[in-house]
Amino acid sequence: MDGRDLVRSVRVVGSSKAAQGLRTVRAAWRRRRIDAAGLPARGAERARVPGPVQGAEPGPGGGVIRFSRSELRITVAVNGAVFWGWDGAGPEPSYALAGRCPEPDPRAVLEPDTDGGWRVVAERVTVSVSRHGAVEVCTPGGVMLRRDLPPRWWEPVGGGAARWVQRSEVAADARFFGLGGRASGPRLRDGTYRLWNTDPGRAFGPGDDPLYITMPVQLVVADAAAHLVFHDSSWDGTVTLREGEEGAGSGHDRTGRCELRMDGGPLRCWVMVGTPGRVLHTWASLTGAPALPPAWALGHHHARWGFGSEQEVRRIVAGYQERGLPLDAVHLDIDHYDAHQVFTVDHERFPKLPTLAEELRRDGIRLVSIVDPAVKAEPGNAVYDSGTSVDAFVRDPSGRTVEGVVWPGEGVFPDFTDARVRAWWGGLYEERLALGFAGFWHDMNEPTSFSAFGESTLPRSARHALEGRGGDHREAHNVYALCMARAAYEGLRGLAPGERPFLFSRSGWAGVQRYGGTWSGDVATGWPGLRASLSLVLGLGLCGVPYSGPDVGGYDGSPSPELFLRWFQLGAYLPLFRTHAGIRAGRREPWEFGAEVLEHARVALLERRRLLPYFMTLAQLARRTGAPYVRPVWWGAPEDRALRDCEDAFLLGDALLVAPVLDPGADRRAVQLPRGRWYDTVTEQAYEGPGQVLVDAPLSRIPVLARAGAVLPVRDEDGGTQLEVWAPARGRTGGGLFVPDAGDGWEEPEVERYVARWEGRHVVVRRDDESGVSKPSRPVRVRGLG
Ligand code: GLC
Repeated sequence: MDGRDLVRSVRVVGSSKAAQGLRTVRAAWRRRRIDAAGLPARGAERARVPGPVQGAEPGPGGGVIRFSRSELRITVAVNGAVFWGWDGAGPEPSYALAGRCPEPDPRAVLEPDTDGGWRVVAERVTVSVSRHGAVEVCTPGGVMLRRDLPPRWWEPVGGGAARWVQRSEVAADARFFGLGGRASGPRLRDGTYRLWNTDPGRAFGPGDDPLYITMPVQLVVADAAAHLVFHDSSWDGTVTLREGEEGAGSGHDRTGRCELRMDGGPLRCWVMVGTPGRVLHTWASLTGAPALPPAWALGHHHARWGFGSEQEVRRIVAGYQERGLPLDAVHLDIDHYDAHQVFTVDHERFPKLPTLAEELRRDGIRLVSIVDPAVKAEPGNAVYDSGTSVDAFVRDPSGRTVEGVVWPGEGVFPDFTDARVRAWWGGLYEERLALGFAGFWHDMNEPTSFSAFGESTLPRSARHALEGRGGDHREAHNVYALCMARAAYEGLRGLAPGERPFLFSRSGWAGVQRYGGTWSGDVATGWPGLRASLSLVLGLGLCGVPYSGPDVGGYDGSPSPELFLRWFQLGAYLPLFRTHAGIRAGRREPWEFGAEVLEHARVALLERRRLLPYFMTLAQLARRTGAPYVRPVWWGAPEDRALRDCEDAFLLGDALLVAPVLDPGADRRAVQLPRGRWYDTVTEQAYEGPGQVLVDAPLSRIPVLARAGAVLPVRDEDGGTQLEVWAPARGRTGGGLFVPDAGDGWEEPEVERYVARWEGRHVVVRRDDESGVSKPSRPVRVRGLG
């Protein structure tokens, strides 16, 4: 940290560190006091289980099964997903669903099962319910995928939310993924994972859990099929996982276990079964198609907390340009605000933002603004005054506005669970658009309120509208950021109807992909942080959020040149490719790490730019099918055990396999290949899968392999698009999809489908879709001919 950074950081934390410390102590006491008055102790509780079955009433797509002390409603929806809810819980209201709950599938009927139970047989799944309320999900062939034991509730004798627990078994070979963004994944090993969006308060590594985005979404992958289960309750909870074990030879199988404990909310869930691709498709049809980022957002972004002035932004942009380094977006952090107050500008240091934005835009670079939810509690502050006039801020049970502490000092929090407040907040982005900002970076929205002790968030008893139903922060906390994203997205659609909004958020919940992407938050600089950043992107993708990425280089400290480069090389293949760091961290411009790193970083940047049409196609496909761009290597072959356990490589769409270097000192690495031939995209050397191969990974690049037969759109030297084809193995065919970029508006371009095959001594590519044209729309270049 140099002298300037020191001055800036002191300005950031207020008049002095001591003053800020005192504020966080006061905030912690305030939170305790409010909860002590607003949340009565639970007192005595009564335990309950469903009891024996009494009867059933068939209904559309399933029906209701009555037990002596509860009832279970099961419905198979037309999209193939199965819903069940206890105690009268239905699928609505729900923050996760994209719209109304899908219609029931009339072909699914409730019928008596053996042993006095009931079952529903659907196309892809059979659900059986035992006499005591165990629910078993099986493949149509009868193989068990998941067995929920009868649930158990604890109800406060004096009334209030019931806690509940749901224990489940899965196949012995099953692996768990998901639960939102987890630093220790992507495979979720034995342990307890909390469901409570949390700012860890410092740069995090693989041991830190929970983080900013948690979701009660599990993707379970087993030989028989994959299934996604979503428990639609936003309350605090924990998931304890224990992988099963297969009896080698003569031994017995031990099933995998999952125990979900929730502090409240309805006991209801959705289950979808099939291949990973099908499951994610169904999930997206339920919770919403991922927002399509504009093309520029698929390029390279550069951020930093503490650019500090327009001159510095210009200096950095010039640094990129002089060195021939592609740059597509620059992000301004809270230091461009006036006294850290959201929706303001420090006019002394950023006097002409619209001019800067205009100049940058002419060079193809967009400005992105950070947006924090907390509003400085200070009469005279325009955002505070307008929020107060519409009664926008969260109150405690006694009716007083809840005050927390964030960057601007004492702040208040909009209640985004209120449609009225969302409309007000969405309108505030008009000021940002007028300044020339093209995209938005939502931060501190777990929500975070600094605290000297205890949790760094709002009091649990704080009141929220919850769409008119009314409730408290225990229920609203996990959906706070989701609702903030909705407010911004809907506001921007109204303010600039011709352009697709671009936003990404630190926190979120199931369904946040409808509004935008996410990023990994303050990942610790170090090799473990590099690994964690891949885990987060993969895990979120499997929860339906395909657009995310880490702070390349890590958020704190100073990476070694090697670590920075390896992170940069990984980032170049992730959906959000952004360098960013905290105010006290070292610099992250690629030229700050010496000539060699600069040279190799340039190669990564140019390759990212070359792959832009492919990234755009992946974004379009994610929107249409829910498939993440970044997929685990087992995506197409979940039955391959070695792939299922591989966590250090990923598929980028169907065509590419990326094997980042995650350890220091490596110049080659082992890669677990799925079936088929794979070409090293630089040397064009062919490798045969399935199996493990050793490939070169010099400092200059990370191994990227192309699937034989793949057709992928890339940018040619003149900025046009060409179709790059990797020769299929002799006697085999291949193919790929291309969705042309249709600009930043709402036009939905056609998907072009291609097949590649050998004809005599040539590889020939033809269109194979409804267009009636067989000639490719772009020039073709065949590679891998040896
Ligand atoms: C939070 C964000 C980080 C940002 C900082 C200042 O720590 O995660 O990205 O730089 O706040 O706004």
